Amino acid sequence: MKLSFDLNGTTRSADVEPRTLLAHLLREQFGLTGTHIGCDTSQCGCCTVLLDGVAVKSCSLLAVQAQGRAVTTIEGLAAKLPAGELHPVQVAFTECHALQCGFCTPGMVMATVSLLRDQPQPSDAQIEQGLAGNLCRCTGYINIAKAVRQAAQVMRGSVAAGEAAR
Ligand code: FES
Ligand code: FES
Repeated sequence: MKLSFDLNGTTRSADVEPRTLLAHLLREQFGLTGTHIGCDTSQCGCCTVLLDGVAVKSCSLLAVQAQGRAVTTIEGLAAKLPAGELHPVQVAFTECHALQCGFCTPGMVMATVSLLRDQPQPSDAQIEQGLAGNLCRCTGYINIAKAVRQAAQVMRGSVAAGEAAR
């Protein structure tokens, strides 16, 4: 099947089998290996990408479901920023030590971007709920939640990135 969609700001097309999963299309045809596959059964959230700005688990979506829509992967998050700059959520995860092995991190970051789109000032409960579909096996969730709060502050413009980490 022919497929055409916006991938990280550029129109891309692909020829896929009807059963091809979006996660496999992104990784295998487009080389976007920042979208990790941790379980393939919709549990871990490592494969989270944005579909029209909303977090989805790309292992649970057929590639053809992206037809005519916009997909953003971790590689595309900073695409519109000056070279070398990171998205505030990526900065917050770094400054708050919200990762260790990093395997879950792309999915956590994308889920956070989606959460903050809908909830610019999330409560602790909303952070917990927003990231409930993303598992981390090594960092624990305290610093991840801290990073979400920092990113929210920075994105609301209430504090600069360096200050939020102090
Ligand atoms: Fe998609 Fe685990 S690989 S949820
Ligand atoms: Fe290792 Fe989350 S940082 S799984």
